[in-house]
Amino acid sequence: MHFFVGSDHAAIELRGSITQHLIGAGHTAEEIGPRAGERVDYPDQAAIVARHVASDPGTKGILVCGTGIGMSIAANKIPGIRAALVHDPFTAEMAAMHNDANVLCLGARLLADAYVLHLIDIWLETEFEARHSTRLSKIATLETSS
Ligand code: RB5
Repeated sequence: MHFFVGSDHAAIELRGSITQHLIGAGHTAEEIGPRAGERVDYPDQAAIVARHVASDPGTKGILVCGTGIGMSIAANKIPGIRAALVHDPFTAEMAAMHNDANVLCLGARLLADAYVLHLIDIWLETEFEARHSTRLSKIATLETSS
């Protein structure tokens, strides 16, 4: 699978670790975000990643910032995106099993790098349960209702 891995300045090193982890697992990945020493606004990076994922359903996104909160709020503004902010194995599992999250958001200032990689693996190894499809359809409907 192809991944878009985005960060702001709060998570540059973690972004690189995630990319290397994905490539090591046989995936392809491209990074979106600042270089060391640059500062950026997380909504801009979230929008780039989310638009890539929304335009190609065969891809997924991972967004990291200080808390993951801003990235998740911003990414979910893009139609077609189900961005989940996760903190632990249970939320990582549910993000895939119940929500079919196509973007995972995590906080670099809360979680150790190795723990983040572990949560990503859980998300990727967990299958979506089709019995939740109706709820996802209702979420999609919200994108076009006022
Ligand atoms: C940047 O200081 C910080 O606000 C950002 O990384 C993130 O935590 C926002 O939700």
